[in-house]
Amino acid sequence: MNLKVESGDIAAWKGDGIVVNLFEGATSPAGATAAVDKALNGLLGKLIASGDVKGKFGNATVVHTIDKLPAARVCVVGLGKENEFTLDRARHAAANGAKELRKAGAKKIAVVAAGGGGAADAAQATAEGVVMGLWRFPKYKGEKENGDVEEVVIVESDAAKKSDVERGVAHGKIFGDATNFARDLANEPGNAMTPTRLAEIAGEMAKQNGLEFYVIDRVQAKELGMGSFLGVAQGSDEPPAMIVMRYWGAGKDAAPGFGIVGKGITFDSGGISLKPGEGMQDMKGDMSGGAATIAAMSAIAQLKPKINVTGIVAATENMPSGKAYKPGDILRAMNGKTIEIINTDAEGRLVLADAVAYASGTLKLSPIVDAATLTGAVVVALGNVRTGVFANDDAWAKTICETGNDIGEKMWQMPMDEEYAEQIKSDWADMKNTGGRAGGSITGAWVIRHFVADGTKWAHLDIAGTTNIGGGKDRGYINQWGTGVPTRTFVNLALKLAKN
Ligand code: BES
Ligand code: MN
Ligand code: ZN
Repeated sequence: MNLKVESGDIAAWKGDGIVVNLFEGATSPAGATAAVDKALNGLLGKLIASGDVKGKFGNATVVHTIDKLPAARVCVVGLGKENEFTLDRARHAAANGAKELRKAGAKKIAVVAAGGGGAADAAQATAEGVVMGLWRFPKYKGEKENGDVEEVVIVESDAAKKSDVERGVAHGKIFGDATNFARDLANEPGNAMTPTRLAEIAGEMAKQNGLEFYVIDRVQAKELGMGSFLGVAQGSDEPPAMIVMRYWGAGKDAAPGFGIVGKGITFDSGGISLKPGEGMQDMKGDMSGGAATIAAMSAIAQLKPKINVTGIVAATENMPSGKAYKPGDILRAMNGKTIEIINTDAEGRLVLADAVAYASGTLKLSPIVDAATLTGAVVVALGNVRTGVFANDDAWAKTICETGNDIGEKMWQMPMDEEYAEQIKSDWADMKNTGGRAGGSITGAWVIRHFVADGTKWAHLDIAGTTNIGGGKDRGYINQWGTGVPTRTFVNLALKLAKN
């Protein structure tokens, strides 16, 4: 899809459809919507007066222009109440408008950037909304849905704002494309997205963007003492890959910088503690944290912040076999700590143990953040709306929550009191890999925390509920499956850290 900026009057724009917006409760259209209304002899005003168009957030109404405008259709999208406006609503509204026009068969559409704040921010949100909203995954379907939108023009009436709008759109496209990249990776089935293939794609991305890249394979992982990661990997015939991508935006003499770590289980069967069959297919998405890590590194490389950033993905399958690790086994991670296995389905924390020890202890990265589809328990706690944030540093947790909440990847900080760590004490090893049902997402986070080197700021994002929103319904630009969360948070964190 081609995305560009034009300045001028959207009412005069020629193409298949235009998207204009409306606040809830507005008695008459304003701004660009008013210009379109005038060209339509007051049709939009009448639809508002009759209550057919209300401007409610989430609504989108398509009307035909019956040759009164050069564009064949107008989609009026609701922004909700003016005093409740956020940029995220602009993002959702743009997505809703673009999707409705696609449904009507439009190939070439124009959108106005919804106001509030600076022109660049509004344009970025609008571009992100359109790019993410139009994403779909038809790759494996013979029967094609209606065609794709080929061109989207963001129209700005004020010529003086054009360069700001262009900058915003360029950024929005990088953020949107990165999220869609993460979605593509997560939606791929496990037979296509093996650890080897994930590493290959990460390597291609790194090459295109000039990133340093290497993969720690089974042999090297063994030399490094990554016994926890290898314990999970030993039941699979697919070779594991600890994928490392490094961006040197501040130069090699500066601090090692920011670390992003992703869980990359390309299929989680549960291993010997096999999962029930129902819903097991969803476990192809157990590498969503890794997908977001790879995608974020591509956006960071394009945005070029002055900071060093390293992305690490612990990729392996979790499978039962005659070689698989078992309950009762004791694994030793690269920092020397041992873990007694209670349940082989609690594998995410085990692969992250070595990834986080490598990031903090070996590469000396700080702060670090990891993202993982770690627990069903976080879905019980927070549902499909907010990502759970766990940290050893409240200020770092706060920065992450603010960053995510600002851009529509909603977060919620969870507690990490020492008392919870009691639940994972083991009689035989330094810890157990599970701590029972109570507070399951917190004890999971505690396992990972034990592998963070002293003095390193660390946070863990449990995205099990927010990568798969469920319910069979899209919400604006948030698709049902493999949402790409928290790609944009990661990228924004790198930009923020570079400024401080
Ligand atoms: N990948 C799963 C968590 C998950 C569950 C992600 C549902 C997305 C949707 C993880 O590896 C897992 O199996 N966790 C167990 C941990 C338990 C054995 C302590 C869980 O949550 O049941
Ligand atoms: Mn599991
Ligand atoms: Zn898992």
